[in-house]
Amino acid sequence: MKIAVLISGSGSNLQALIDYQSHAHYEIALVISNRPQAYGLVRAQNANIPTLVLDHTTYADRLTFDKALMAALDDAKIEGVILAGFMRILTPEFTQHFLGRMLNIHPSLLPKYPGLHTHQRALEAKDSQHGVSIHFVTPELDGGPVILQSVIQIADNDTPETLQDKIHQEEYKIYPLVTDWLAQGKIQLVDNQALFNQKVL
Ligand code: GRF
Repeated sequence: MKIAVLISGSGSNLQALIDYQSHAHYEIALVISNRPQAYGLVRAQNANIPTLVLDHTTYADRLTFDKALMAALDDAKIEGVILAGFMRILTPEFTQHFLGRMLNIHPSLLPKYPGLHTHQRALEAKDSQHGVSIHFVTPELDGGPVILQSVIQIADNDTPETLQDKIHQEEYKIYPLVTDWLAQGKIQLVDNQALFNQKVL
């Protein structure tokens, strides 16, 4: 499956996807960033993957940006879209176009803590556990059906930074795996439910 990875920053999840590629059924055919300085662009270039910058600040509005993004993905014949630290809210037009073909990774145990500052929020709530979720992208922000989660224990001395490190380690293990499931047709989105091998998760 030809996939594109959409990033806005460091791209360490992109790196994990690149590193797993030779074992996988996906081919990263394009990396798109909405920020010209995103380090993930360098990671892609080092792996000889085509890159594209679509700087959202140069578009009139959200829908115009999303239409440009959609056109770029369709022109490159992209079949699957993997959001990896892509810090843009997507329009329903965009999410509908890639419904069932687009994944996101979110650093919380959804449905807990959609949105930003998830590590801080888990600490403030004195949660004993935290984690990461991979889900299908639907129009609802961080609200699409969850495919896989990884749980970590919160220690007394954890900070947002230590939690982020722990979460990242989990992300690198599970995102390439679930992306490969998508590429193999093992997971599907049907009636707003995630299926694995035809069974509801
Ligand atoms: C990850 O923690 C991911 O869960 C969140 O954004 C972060 C991206 O990190 N959506 P990186 O750019 O992959 O290093």
